[in-house]
Amino acid sequence: MPNDSFIIVAIDGGAAAGKSSTSRGISERYCLMHVDTGSFYRATTLKLMGAGIAPEEGDALSKGLAALDLGTSVTGNAASITISNWTPDASIRSQKINENVSRYAALPSLREFLLKYQRSQADVAKANGFKGLVMEGRDIGSVIFPDADLRLFLVADPEKRAQRRAKEGIQDSIQARDRIDSSRKTAPLKCPEGATLLDTSDLSLDAVIDTVSKMIDKLIA
Ligand code: DC
Repeated sequence: MPNDSFIIVAIDGGAAAGKSSTSRGISERYCLMHVDTGSFYRATTLKLMGAGIAPEEGDALSKGLAALDLGTSVTGNAASITISNWTPDASIRSQKINENVSRYAALPSLREFLLKYQRSQADVAKANGFKGLVMEGRDIGSVIFPDADLRLFLVADPEKRAQRRAKEGIQDSIQARDRIDSSRKTAPLKCPEGATLLDTSDLSLDAVIDTVSKMIDKLIA
């Protein structure tokens, strides 16, 4: 691949598997725009819950989604979703959202609603002069960008993942979320065929970033 072409890196995995820290590190090293799609599901969950819309298909959900006007704001290397000019804040990482987000993320209408928007982030990255995109989530390498230049699937021991969240001071329903995310019908969490599985349990963040960097170096060499 020539040095000046645009690359797409897809990083999937369960809750607290190390996706965000790895994506941030890679985005800085290679001037890629970082997109955290988990924040999209969190922000839409907050909005739908705020409007009193239950996590079930139907008219209320369709109307609720139609009322959400999506945009993007870019700060440094990170792109953030905006919803009707609201930029998500720490409230999307509250315990209440952790407990409910997987039920909303399992709704086919919500996934369909966010599909095109997620793909459009490649154009946002190009328009903002980035050399590529690193997008993290659950179905990036399987559904959103199945042809991504690099598709990674991160895993880590349950204890290590719990320790990471405790260090961040966040109460999370890691296992419950993974269970719902893996068993849903639409775009379940699973390592897509052909993706590279990376176990981060015994690796420092720097070691994970170095490992991924070697893969990217090979791609752009
Ligand atoms: O990455 P995260 O833990 O912030 O994601 C929050 C939830 O959003 C996660 O439990 C499942 C859902 N999600 C998803 O279904 N698909 C994605 N691409 C990203 C997140």
